[in-house]
Amino acid sequence: MIDFNYYAPTEVVFGKESEAQVAQMVKKYGGSKVLVHYGGKSAQKSGLLDKVCNLLKAEGIQYVTLGGVVPNPRLSKVHEGIDLCRKEGVNFILAIGGGSVIDSSKAIAYGVGYDGDVWDFYTRKAVPKSSVPLGSVLTIPAAGSEMSASSVISNEDGGIKLGYNDNLCRPKFAIMNPERTYTLPKWQTAAGVADIMMHIMERYFSHDTDMDVSDNLAESLLRTVKEAVFPVLKNPEDYRYRAQIMWAGSLAHNDLAGCGRVGDWATHQIEHELSGMFDVTHGAGLAAIWPSWARYVMKEDVSRFVRFAVNVMGVANDFTDPEGTAIKGVETMERFYHAIGMPINIHELIGREITDDEIKEMARKCTRNYTITQGNFKVLKAEDIEEIYRMAR
Ligand code: NZQ
Ligand code: ZN
Repeated sequence: MIDFNYYAPTEVVFGKESEAQVAQMVKKYGGSKVLVHYGGKSAQKSGLLDKVCNLLKAEGIQYVTLGGVVPNPRLSKVHEGIDLCRKEGVNFILAIGGGSVIDSSKAIAYGVGYDGDVWDFYTRKAVPKSSVPLGSVLTIPAAGSEMSASSVISNEDGGIKLGYNDNLCRPKFAIMNPERTYTLPKWQTAAGVADIMMHIMERYFSHDTDMDVSDNLAESLLRTVKEAVFPVLKNPEDYRYRAQIMWAGSLAHNDLAGCGRVGDWATHQIEHELSGMFDVTHGAGLAAIWPSWARYVMKEDVSRFVRFAVNVMGVANDFTDPEGTAIKGVETMERFYHAIGMPINIHELIGREITDDEIKEMARKCTRNYTITQGNFKVLKAEDIEEIYRMAR
């Protein structure tokens, strides 16, 4: 077990009437001039955007709005947001949406007080010294950005998707009303579940295996989400199970299940290149990569995969054949992905095989021009990453 600091400062306001508290929350955390940041159509269509704006107005809180954030949020929108915040003297950012809107908000928050290009933080050329405080009204459980220290932004120039982690941008509050997720299409619901599960699995597949609290939390969260997704796909307005997924989505990525260990994160890094190149849905991209990653790295610690197979995927333990049990766990996961409509390889994800050139290009970007490795369960060099893409073809 490794030593750790645990920091999860986000105030969670959870439940059916939660968005009624939005203005009080903004005030509590010092907001008097707010940027209301949102995505495409969903927040307008559902009436959530109007409701939130009216609540701010009723409390005398001034605001400006900026919509149009797309999945895999773009740097150009971030620049637009930074300019608007400076012009309007914004002192609080309110994200209405999912990971893309929250991540765009975080990037804007870093950029307002910085003279250079905010992209410098994502390329590690500079470190932010300040961040405008922000909060969110979450509409999709998936990325976990509502409590996380991460922000992931796509630069249209070169199709580069990079994440930056810093406690500075941890949201002050997260308002979560499971009813607001009733309108999610099946694809987004399932991709969200794949992402939530992967945030737990990235922490679970570790060589620091003596932290029982983290393991047991992880397995319980994984089983809960895996079971909750089916009633929700059948009945999108199932409050009970929408609520399980929504809360698990935050716990999956607020570091709770990662205490005392070093996580892996290779599947995420390998997926980010897929999103950067093909603009795919992040959760679906993870599902397309994970089975190949699992098969490639399994020998590093078969017993970890056996535990996953038995405790999470419900595979019967064949004590005479640990590797066979481990493989069955991966195959059961593949059947689960298919059952919820997720792909299990890149062909299923983008409708064609990727080419050798595309594989080389993604592995090059993933290792920042061959200067870094990815993953910890097995440390992956560019050639390993190329092989995983080839297996996932
Ligand atoms: O744009 P609108 O119209 O709102 O539609 C969105 C979007 O098309 C739709 N949606 C959201 N709430 C809805 C809804 N549709 C109907 N009803 C609702 N209630 O869903 C689509 C996807 O939204 P998005 O915000 O992109 O989803 P998600 O939360 O999965 O975020 C994905 C992004 O987060 C990054 C990913 O890489 C990706 O860019 N990640 C961020 C992390 C973090 N900051 O900690 C960690 C993750 O690993 C991830 O990398
Ligand atoms: Zn993710």
